[in-house]
Amino acid sequence: MTQLNGGPSIPAWPDDELDFSTPSKPQPPYFDKDLDAWIFSRHADIHSALRSFDLWPSSVKKGKQPRLIDKASHHKMRADTTQSLSPERLRGWRLLLAERATDAVKALPINTPIDLLASYADPLCMFLAETVTSISHEEALLLYASARIVSASAAEPYDSELSKSAKPADELLRNHFQSRPEGLRDSTFVALSQTIPCMLGNAWFSLTQFPSQWSILHQHPDLLEAGVEELMRYAGLVRTLGRYATADIQIGDVLIRRGEKIILRMIAAHRDPERYSNPNELIVERQSRGNFALGMGEHSCVGAVLIRMATTTTTAPLLTRFSSIELVDPVAWKGGSAFRSPGSLWVRLGD
Ligand code: HEM
Repeated sequence: MTQLNGGPSIPAWPDDELDFSTPSKPQPPYFDKDLDAWIFSRHADIHSALRSFDLWPSSVKKGKQPRLIDKASHHKMRADTTQSLSPERLRGWRLLLAERATDAVKALPINTPIDLLASYADPLCMFLAETVTSISHEEALLLYASARIVSASAAEPYDSELSKSAKPADELLRNHFQSRPEGLRDSTFVALSQTIPCMLGNAWFSLTQFPSQWSILHQHPDLLEAGVEELMRYAGLVRTLGRYATADIQIGDVLIRRGEKIILRMIAAHRDPERYSNPNELIVERQSRGNFALGMGEHSCVGAVLIRMATTTTTAPLLTRFSSIELVDPVAWKGGSAFRSPGSLWVRLGD
């Protein structure tokens, strides 16, 4: 437990951090009085929670009430977003992104330190954000700073200073994309331009820690699809999700009362030895389906197809072109209790 700006207690499980030397150990569910919430960390418990119809997404913050919406509006939101991300559109975006990524890889230097996020991930993700939300590059540049603030606040929801500055930024973005179809608005622009680079940063950092896994993917590009699932398991971005009980509900051995909250420690679940053998190792050939990096069940990420497409399309040309990756500078981490990722990723790529 830590405090931020003298504010409320925030969940602090440093062992959920990607660079922590002693990785997380899942525990049986328990109630945390300071956080006023149940804490779930075992894979099986989180799986049950995400599958439950009596648990609604909620902020993990103490005292913050969830925004409950009726089932019909929820289904409509999901259906409209799915329609916006139709397979035809996705195919078109993939082609455009693949072309950009191939050109960008050609421009990367060999055996010379580069920040792979600033020189490769950020511009490609910005291009994808512009393409998907149909805005010009000039408009995107104007919106970029606001998206950065909104993303930083989402990464650390307990920072009241960040929340304050995120409000006008959020409003500016919301107004800009107001007339767009569901799924192609401000939150998608923020997710594509900011959150995906964070996710890629975690994934590529992990590959620097397991160079043999980079070599395997370099030699067997057909393994990338399965490898992406393993990268999501090992280096998933979202550290916790919140749930609110809309009815009394039994999960495993614990009875959750209506109105109580649960904090789901996703990263700990991804390291659960009951679910994964050698959980603290990145093994790209492992079948990691069933990870929670993009949620699961009724409230799973509607943008999952887009996220997977972006991850494979940006990572594949790097793996094909370069036989190795080596971290040349310690990573300065950014973000906070909701998600954390490298602020920069200085690497040397081998021929
Ligand atoms: C790297 C980027 C992203 C990550 C890591 C991510 C992760 C997640 C996770 C973990 C959830 C589950 C939340 C919960 O169960 O409480 C979720 C939900 C959701 N995501 Fe994403 N997401 C990303 C990008 C996107 C994009 C680009 C879109 C839209 C195009 C999107 C749309 C949604 C929606 C609408 C939900 C709520 C679903 C519901 O409540 O039914 N996400 N996301």
